[in-house]
Amino acid sequence: MKTDKIGIYPGTFDPITNGHLDIIRKALKLFDILIVAICENPHKETLFSIKERQFLVEEAIKEIEENWRIKVETFSGLLVDFAKKKSACAIIRGLRAVSDFEYEMQMALMNRKLSNNLDTIFLLPSLKWIFLSSSVVKEIAKFGGKIEDLVPKIVAETLKKKFEKGEFPPY
Ligand code: PNS
Repeated sequence: MKTDKIGIYPGTFDPITNGHLDIIRKALKLFDILIVAICENPHKETLFSIKERQFLVEEAIKEIEENWRIKVETFSGLLVDFAKKKSACAIIRGLRAVSDFEYEMQMALMNRKLSNNLDTIFLLPSLKWIFLSSSVVKEIAKFGGKIEDLVPKIVAETLKKKFEKGEFPPY
């Protein structure tokens, strides 16, 4: 009997960008099920709460075909523990540039040390998203710049409202 191949794509997703969506689409080609795992790290300051980030990811993936194969979940604690609990066979990370490499390599090796069977697969985003990060998007949005072509529609609207009114808009 064939068992589902489950991949896990962890991150802070504060907020999800088109670059993340691109990696999700690519990862879906490799796995039967992809868990987008949003990290709740009380020591990392985020613009959006864990619930808000989850909501935005759930809305954003609606534009992806076969999104029934994507599960959006939150986790705290060690990623390897969460991955094990979910029976994931690999971690997915996007790698944009050499500047990402050192941090990513350290994390991948440490995760493999913590859990011997868990390898990390790095996926390269399409060239047009190579410069994109959640931090850059927040910076542009904060100063009223154009972000519509960098993030899903729901994220652009939400960021705009967040910075204009200081609130998460109720949907
Ligand atoms: O989007 P980010 O901020 O680059 O994601 C980083 C994340 C959430 C993947 C990483 O910080 C993580 O896995 N945190 C969970 C705690 C953990 O397992 N730390 C050990 C990693 S070596």
